[in-house]
Amino acid sequence: MNDKILLSVNGLSKHFGGLAAVQNVSFSIRQGEIVSLIGPNGAGKTTVFNLLSGVFSPSAGTINLDGEDITGKRPFEVCQKGVGRTFQIMQPFPQMTVLENIITSSLFGRVPKISLSQAEEEAVELCKLVGLGDKQNTFPRNLTTPGQKRIEIARALAVKPKLLLLDEVMSGLTPTETIEAIKLVRSLRDKGTTVFLIEHVMKVVMGISDRVIVVHHGEKIAEGTCAEVANDPKVIKAYLGEHAEDTKESMC
Ligand SMILES: Nc1ncnc2c1ncn2[C@@H]1O[C@H](COP(=O)(O)OP(=O)(O)OP(=O)(O)O)[C@@H](O)[C@H]1O
Ligand SMILES: [Mg+2]
Repeated sequence: MNDKILLSVNGLSKHFGGLAAVQNVSFSIRQGEIVSLIGPNGAGKTTVFNLLSGVFSPSAGTINLDGEDITGKRPFEVCQKGVGRTFQIMQPFPQMTVLENIITSSLFGRVPKISLSQAEEEAVELCKLVGLGDKQNTFPRNLTTPGQKRIEIARALAVKPKLLLLDEVMSGLTPTETIEAIKLVRSLRDKGTTVFLIEHVMKVVMGISDRVIVVHHGEKIAEGTCAEVANDPKVIKAYLGEHAEDTKESMC
């Protein structure tokens, strides 16, 4: 990690009619960091990702990536500027094999463009990296949910992102698969990718993050190291208030 700010978000808001899904959220992420975005269901986490990746235009606020204002840019532009993302609700092309899904990402998401043969070569490597080496010619519908999430990760990586946004890619994994996924995220960071992830599994969040940002009802309520946020009364209240079964212990 270094001190260079890769992503800087200021006063970001998104309203859906009368609902403020994201309200005046500001934060920054340094190059090489692994930062988690957490918060109860409906807190606005995925909406933040949709704003960062250009799926939605913000109602207010700015997004700066690597020194460039990308506020309001369209998804393909944001992607080509170096933001790769996964979708919480997986969106593979159903008529394409796993490999073809990943190749499509390399062909359309990269600047400068690469050849089909290079895209294919890279896609084969990405399949292996995410654990789909033996599923290249399978159709997405024949994979389990965690398997489909692996396609999402490979497709996001195929654009060679500076910033990788992972939306709950570890839910539903077995403990062994979770350990593998954590190793993968760390290895991506070690190779220079900055990772911003939404995760509900607190053990993962606490084990992997350099920093954690907490949102609740669309607002940022805390930001800090794992220990800092886990001990923050506002965070504990947000979780205890909405998930009575959660305890502070489960956050640490
Ligand atoms: N396209 C949309 N139109 C209208 N309301 C939306 C839209 N997208 C999200 N919302 C609302 O915005 C709020 C935040 O939703 P969001 O999906 O960002 O939450 P989240 O923190 O990702 O939740 P979860 O943990 O369940 O994935 C919710 O009240 C949701 O119903
Ligand atoms: Mg979500």
